[in-house]
Amino acid sequence: MSPSADFERMWSDLAPIGRSARSGGYFRQPLGSAERECHAWFVEQCEARGLWVETDPVGNTVGWWGYPERGGAKAVLCGSHLDSVLDGGAYDGPLGVVSGLAAVDALRERGFTPQRPIGVSAFVEEEGSRFGLACLGSRLATGAMPWEKAAELTDRDGVRFGEALSAAGLPPDPDHPDSGQPGWTELTDRIGCFVELHVEQGRDLVDRGAPVGVASAIWPHGRYRFEFSGQANHAGTTRMEDRRDPMLSYAMTVLAANKQARLAGQRATFGRVDVHPNGTNAVPSRVTAWLDARAESPQHLDELLAAVQRLASERADRDGTSLQVTAESVSGAVDFDPSLADRIAAHEDGDWPIIPTMAGHDAGIISEAGVPTAMLFVRNPTGVSHSPDEHAEMADCLAGVEALADTLERLAGS
Ligand code: HGY
Ligand code: MN
Ligand code: MN
Repeated sequence: MSPSADFERMWSDLAPIGRSARSGGYFRQPLGSAERECHAWFVEQCEARGLWVETDPVGNTVGWWGYPERGGAKAVLCGSHLDSVLDGGAYDGPLGVVSGLAAVDALRERGFTPQRPIGVSAFVEEEGSRFGLACLGSRLATGAMPWEKAAELTDRDGVRFGEALSAAGLPPDPDHPDSGQPGWTELTDRIGCFVELHVEQGRDLVDRGAPVGVASAIWPHGRYRFEFSGQANHAGTTRMEDRRDPMLSYAMTVLAANKQARLAGQRATFGRVDVHPNGTNAVPSRVTAWLDARAESPQHLDELLAAVQRLASERADRDGTSLQVTAESVSGAVDFDPSLADRIAAHEDGDWPIIPTMAGHDAGIISEAGVPTAMLFVRNPTGVSHSPDEHAEMADCLAGVEALADTLERLAGS
């Protein structure tokens, strides 16, 4: 079967897994049934290609074409993630994993024999949609996150990460006698470089008329929990001037964050809120909301967060409410290896554009672990992402597969 037919078959295999009939969006939260079904499918595809499959204690999975023996040639790793945001798109994550498998097919079709191992990876909980920390799987795989802290992360139902692993049949602890797998940080010892292919989450390639691009950098970004506490009271009998309403403090903070981001040319989003007790005829006692803030530099991010926090505190004082802000997930600025990016982007028929992204990726975590890392972007005709409307044309997906195969051939050919 041709690599493109292979890609299309794999893509249609995955399409129904975790897809909502109502919205058409995906609910592939980590260690849930849909995401585990995607990982099982991935293992099956690796085994069907004779790849050596390795799963670490938290479910990060790699299919190896040639095994990276200790002391042997360092591997070239590609791949991405299979989990999604809530009601997410089909491409964010899976496009990189399926393209990795299809690129192996294409290289074999070309009669290419790698001079060093090639791996295709699928990292766990890249979105942080269940346990709150972005790139949890790759942070553990690179040692950026200690297991003890990760085990205590909880989801919205209070389920601890360690419990969720056990429930998914994964060793709850790397030293667990059943793990029998390489530990966390061995992955980074065994790879010489990492290349993540990802659907572009934005319109840069569309505006350039380019099907494929290369990443230059990832903006620093973070997720911060704002807890507004007030006084529960009756919606009818409580005079407006007597209220201590956390919903008011929260609402004004949303407006302030939006205004500060616009003024500074950065990004700020409140996309998640939890109201207690969430009753129609009661002033709430507590409103918990999460700010996603991103900026072109760590200093711009600090300034944006400080401005929002100051304005939120001032509003809380006026409303007689209190505010506590907690950083839940922080991802530093990433500048990808420029020589690797240039090497990948250089092509006789015209170099691929090298562009920044405001989205976080496992590639950012692996780059921060000191592994030379690059990203390939595939054109997204609308730029929309983290939405059921996320899309990439099949022709561009196949161009991405060829681009990844070319890149793997360059990097694993010597
Ligand atoms: O949130 C992000 O930037 C990424 O899509 N996980
Ligand atoms: Mn992603
Ligand atoms: Mn995403």
